[in-house]
Amino acid sequence: MAHSRTSTGYHLDKPQDGVDGLDGVDRLVMRAEELPPPGPRQVLIRVRAASLNRRDLMILDGTYPLRAAAGVVPLSDGAGEVVAVGEGVRRAEAGDRVAVTYFRRWIDGPMTLPLISEQYGASLGGMLAEYQVVDEESVVRIPAHLSYEEAATLPCAGVLAWAALTTGARPLAAGDTVLVVGSGAVALFGVQLAAALGGRVIAVTSGEEKARRLRELGAAEVVDRRATPEWEQAVAALTGGRGADLVVEAVGAPTIARSVASIGFNGQISLVGAFPAGGAAFDPNLFNGRFFHLQRLAVGSRTSFEQLNAALSRHGLRPVIDRVFGFDEAIAAYRHLRDGSPFGKVVITLP
Ligand SMILES: NC(=O)c1ccc[n+]([C@@H]2O[C@H](COP(=O)([O-])OP(=O)(O)OC[C@H]3O[C@@H](n4cnc5c(N)ncnc54)[C@H](OP(=O)(O)O)[C@@H]3O)[C@@H](O)[C@H]2O)c1
Repeated sequence: MAHSRTSTGYHLDKPQDGVDGLDGVDRLVMRAEELPPPGPRQVLIRVRAASLNRRDLMILDGTYPLRAAAGVVPLSDGAGEVVAVGEGVRRAEAGDRVAVTYFRRWIDGPMTLPLISEQYGASLGGMLAEYQVVDEESVVRIPAHLSYEEAATLPCAGVLAWAALTTGARPLAAGDTVLVVGSGAVALFGVQLAAALGGRVIAVTSGEEKARRLRELGAAEVVDRRATPEWEQAVAALTGGRGADLVVEAVGAPTIARSVASIGFNGQISLVGAFPAGGAAFDPNLFNGRFFHLQRLAVGSRTSFEQLNAALSRHGLRPVIDRVFGFDEAIAAYRHLRDGSPFGKVVITLP
């Protein structure tokens, strides 16, 4: 019989009057709370690692489209061990190594408006705490070869990259050319996964060191956007003028026009990046003579997560981690994501 449990975690307090929320990190307060036992069809997880995404910074500074619940535990991404299950639970049992889906109950099929508003670490308690209670529908078993720190990188950026490559009207087929724009966390997963699925990856990045690392991850070609600002011309040259079959557009407003200019006939662009208000204007004339599919993604479903895990296991892939912080260093972890130009995921490990 499960009972309540004390959990120490970070909580998102109200914006403070008079405090300049430059990054909002001053809103994170660590405290203990009493968690009720898991209810019917819920599971209690001992969180062992969590990871940060851009959206977690946006939630803090109030620019994320979904409002965070007052006092909520932040971070969508986490992995840990099931320690207790509520009545009627069938998908998990104590001792399971699991990760939690970004959305509470987007199981499969298309995203809907009601589903999008139920997000851990925003409207629902997230992973930056010792324990969390989640729906049994929200847990997936993690690959055996991954540590908790590695598995905690998957729920947002990993699932999104997988969905960009495998869903929509034009999923990846072996031999396709896949253009991956940027070298943020989503892009790194995009390069690894596209190469593992048999794609020929062209990556667009800035600087030689990032280019070298992208090649190590599986990029066949890398275009340095500093040396080649009109990189769509390089993509055209590398594809014999045909353009890319798929584009993982993981930057946003600064690069979308060149991504459209890079897409091949009947190809598919997956729009991943954020489009902040006041971003670059877009010239609709770019569509003239170009025929392709465009999908705007919100992470992915639980089915995509399970498929991702199977692919990671099959290919023995490991996520790229930039740095792991301790639980009491969570504020520094947020600042590192904001200011430290990480290459790979920023992870927080829990005791
Ligand atoms: N739709 C969703 O479900 C979802 C989920 C997760 C993230 N996102 C969004 O996806 C985007 C990527 O997130 P992320 O965490 O993977 O990466 P990130 O940390 O935001 O990094 C983005 C990368 O974009 C490149 N970049 C930045 N400014 C640029 C510019 N002016 N021109 C060209 N490239 C530029 C840089 O790569 P190089 O230096 O290599 O060029 C940078 O590493 C963000 O906008 C994030 O909010 C959306």
